[in-house]
Amino acid sequence: HAETGAEAWLRYERVADPAALQRYHELPSRIVQLGENPIATNAAVELARGLSGELGLQTQQATTYGTEDAFVLGTPAELTNLLPGESQRQLPPEGFRIARERMGKHTLWIIEGGTPPAELFAVFRLLEKIATLNPQLESTEAPSAPVRWVNQWDNPDGSIERGYAGRSIFFDASHVRSDLTRAAEYARLLASVGINGCTVNNVNSDLRTLTPEMLHEFARIADAFRPWGVRLSLSVDLSSPQVVGHLPTFDPLDPTVATWWQKKVEEIYTLIPDFGGFVVKADSEGRAGPSQYGRTPSQAANVLARALQPHHGVVLYRGFVYNHHLDWQDLKADRARAGYDNFASLDGTFEPNVIIQVKHGPIDFQIREPVSPLFAALQHTSQAIEVQTTQEYTGQQRHMVFLIPMWKTALDTDLRAQNRSTPVKEIVTGKSFHQPLGGFVSVVNVGLDANWLHHPMAMANLYGFGRLAWNPDLTSEQIINEWTRLTFGNNPKVVDTVNHLQLDSWKVYEQYTGPLGIGTLTDIIGVHYGPGIESAERNGWGQWLRADHNGAGMDRTVATGTGFIGQYPPELARVYESLTTCPDELLLFMHHVHYTHELHTGKTVIQHIYDSHYEGAATAATYAPRWESLHGLVDNQRFGETLKLFQYQAGHAMVWRDAVSEWFFHLSGIPDAQGRVGHH
Ligand code: GCU
Repeated sequence: HAETGAEAWLRYERVADPAALQRYHELPSRIVQLGENPIATNAAVELARGLSGELGLQTQQATTYGTEDAFVLGTPAELTNLLPGESQRQLPPEGFRIARERMGKHTLWIIEGGTPPAELFAVFRLLEKIATLNPQLESTEAPSAPVRWVNQWDNPDGSIERGYAGRSIFFDASHVRSDLTRAAEYARLLASVGINGCTVNNVNSDLRTLTPEMLHEFARIADAFRPWGVRLSLSVDLSSPQVVGHLPTFDPLDPTVATWWQKKVEEIYTLIPDFGGFVVKADSEGRAGPSQYGRTPSQAANVLARALQPHHGVVLYRGFVYNHHLDWQDLKADRARAGYDNFASLDGTFEPNVIIQVKHGPIDFQIREPVSPLFAALQHTSQAIEVQTTQEYTGQQRHMVFLIPMWKTALDTDLRAQNRSTPVKEIVTGKSFHQPLGGFVSVVNVGLDANWLHHPMAMANLYGFGRLAWNPDLTSEQIINEWTRLTFGNNPKVVDTVNHLQLDSWKVYEQYTGPLGIGTLTDIIGVHYGPGIESAERNGWGQWLRADHNGAGMDRTVATGTGFIGQYPPELARVYESLTTCPDELLLFMHHVHYTHELHTGKTVIQHIYDSHYEGAATAATYAPRWESLHGLVDNQRFGETLKLFQYQAGHAMVWRDAVSEWFFHLSGIPDAQGRVGHH
């Protein structure tokens, strides 16, 4: 029925495995909740709900400990009476401990959170372990970084920029919806994977966002989030002091502007005491910004940061600042340079509660990009990596593309700053340069579609984002294996089939869309969907292929190109600069080469383009039959929905294959060694 999928990975299906049942038999049915707050109550209720679904346990709730076996939920302070010595132990605010303790004749399952939200994280983890038949229920965990946020690009009218799963769960007709049931359910889903913040409005922020009327309405969303420990934040436009405050200027160095922000922030905190902070898109794609007054991003960010500081709020200032009116005839012009060029020299000038939010690649969520060199350049500034769960350039939730391997590739890239190991994941979690406030942000864009993201398989990306933000050392295999079991159960055939389908899907999508780092080859100007190869060329957006009769690719070398490669620390720059060491998958991002250039695989560039497109489309055509082998093992609704999408994907992959292959054949005139191209 219509609601199928709404529960996402929180299905709490009855465990059927006899060995597991035997193991979990000893779990108590009494749940003692020590803290008196809505978050702790949700944790206790969730535990009851999960245990009843998974194990059929009829639980009893209590607020005091008696003399029987029980789960006991609390913070270290609340647990001191029960477990003397408890208060000495260190538990980070968002860390938790699940531990089995003997008390005389009884067994207590301690679910201890540094703060109440961490009790929730612990409960969800415990229930996940039971659902996936994990024998080891005890654990102590803490998240890798404090910022684990999602950004929704929702507009007040209820539309969503780059949203592919229906209209906004927050807004309709210029107001916050009166029924926020879905908003609360979303917060529960986010909390279940450790996400602690949600920015509810588009980065291209509506200019009325900070009016008193709207703030009152946003406060209602914050109320819906709060019992799940998810903090609300807002995208703001830097011209707000002028547009909303009617000041003559929004110059960040004007004292009246600073006072306006300070008063506005106070107003926000009286309405939303746990407000998370601001996300800022400025001087980018037509948004207002400090450049109008000759001021820098740090001068702008710092004014907001000083206003937020007394309330413990943060500013996520986006590194996505670039000129979209570049001169395409200028071979030295390069959009990829912009992040570094605009921010690197400002390192060390930001207030401590400013975090620079950097898209993982230097362009814009293409199917393959190197990591942004800005990560290595900001060594005195907290940073958050921005990734996209909403599949703007990766098939818009009509194609299955499991993005965790892509994000892992970025997070594991070792930038070799200061000639030492500095992988992106250690930079954003603050380890590499000892920064306190970094983390992870994903643009998600769930909508009113019952299953949140439209494609049932796309939910693995939201699940995986939360898990990776919590622990970026998890592997793609671990993440998909958990997600599949939670979502489709533990049947080995189902688990194996779904895991394999998902794990290869990024590579497959890359094969039939944009090869060798050249870009996604989609329609660049408008909807970013389907093949639109030519649209990247000869305009100001700077996503050029630089393809002509002889060759393709952007020359970004220091020696003869735009010099972009020189923005990386020297060891990595050397790898990219040389054709001998530059990895094939980034070749056309970094270099302009002839179609006959030989790759490390021994193939020519042009033959690789033909072969990869045919191979990718052929693999996409296997999705539907492989999925069909699960008939009867997955409920009919999800089985049918997914099958239809896989059949569609197979067809659309052929459209991609033919469009790209033919385009390069016509340009290069070089025939396909296998005779597949150019004979239609
Ligand atoms: C992309 C996307 C825009 C979005 C922008 C951003 O360019 O297409 O819709 O506003 O990124 O991240 O700010």
